[in-house]
Amino acid sequence: MKTRICGTGSALPKRVVSNEDLSKIMDTSDEWIKSRTGIAARHLATDETLAGLSAAAALQALEEAGICAKDLDMILAGTISADNILPSLACELQRELGAVHAVAFDINAACAGFLFALQTADAYIRSGQYRNILVVGGEILSKLMDWNDRSTCVLFGDGAGAAVVCPDENCGILSSVQGSDGAKGGVLSCCGRKNNNPYVKNSIKLPFVSMDGQEVYKFAVRTVPKAITDTVEKAGLAISDIDLFLIHQANIRIIESVSKRLKAPMEKFPTNLAFCGNISAGSVPILLDDVNRRGLLHKGDKIVLAGFGAGLTWGASVLVW
Ligand code: COA
Repeated sequence: MKTRICGTGSALPKRVVSNEDLSKIMDTSDEWIKSRTGIAARHLATDETLAGLSAAAALQALEEAGICAKDLDMILAGTISADNILPSLACELQRELGAVHAVAFDINAACAGFLFALQTADAYIRSGQYRNILVVGGEILSKLMDWNDRSTCVLFGDGAGAAVVCPDENCGILSSVQGSDGAKGGVLSCCGRKNNNPYVKNSIKLPFVSMDGQEVYKFAVRTVPKAITDTVEKAGLAISDIDLFLIHQANIRIIESVSKRLKAPMEKFPTNLAFCGNISAGSVPILLDDVNRRGLLHKGDKIVLAGFGAGLTWGASVLVW
């Protein structure tokens, strides 16, 4: 039994902010951002909520899968920026969708969040415990950015993507690998709220994302090609058998480096980071929905999905569409 993606969806906030727009509010330029990252613009939430964006993405995925919310057994949401600490994004989605029979919880694996959620769904389906699972990856990262720190805030964007997965005899996930390296977590982090109980004294300072860009870059170009090679080998395939590589949209230079290390042409690496930026857990499912709706996925195609990010965390899966 395999886990097949039978519907996808995505939703982006309506406000588009170009590099040019950012250069009017901070000391940066279109040239600096584009030449180092490939990003030209990103969508930033203004009045949207993450639950609202995720629900819009989920409804598209349910429609394509031909099932309704009441058919869902489980909702898994990969996110680090749920609207509230409690309840989880997955539970808020359950409420919005009326998915009354689903069990729902979030997975915090940063930019690998969608991959970890998908791989968790795969384990539940292969065990026979559940059949219809909604997997969501989404972020409103703009609320976690320090808008005075030009080295991080220009890189990220907001949005949500979704996939409905179901059991299938023939098509679906062939193999997966995942990994974590908590010892190196400090290179990309965002502190939590400080304890302010009556027995400690802490200043109430808002926590923001901070990043050592060059260390994260080195981690990505080392880890992602290995994770992809390992999962492709585990599936009994060669890199040349893969039709498309949908990898986390952090930086075009990282994607080019992965393509070079794998000796797979850049034409097999579709991107949307030019107009979305890095949407962390939302990145891979939004790209998946984009290529699906553009008709770039054909029955029998072999596809790699890969994510990497804070934690540090990484994951890759090979599937037959
Ligand atoms: N606009 C203009 N200048 C900027 C800037 C911005 N938005 N952000 C930083 N700078 C400046 C810095 O202040 C620094 O100036 P200095 O040399 O005078 O101190 C300089 O640019 C650093 O430039 P450079 O060394 O060329 O940066 P880089 O090549 O390391 O690129 C990143 C920076 C962040 C684009 C790159 O390290 C990267 O992409 N890393 C991976 C990040 C990532 O993908 N994170 C998410 C993973 S999930």
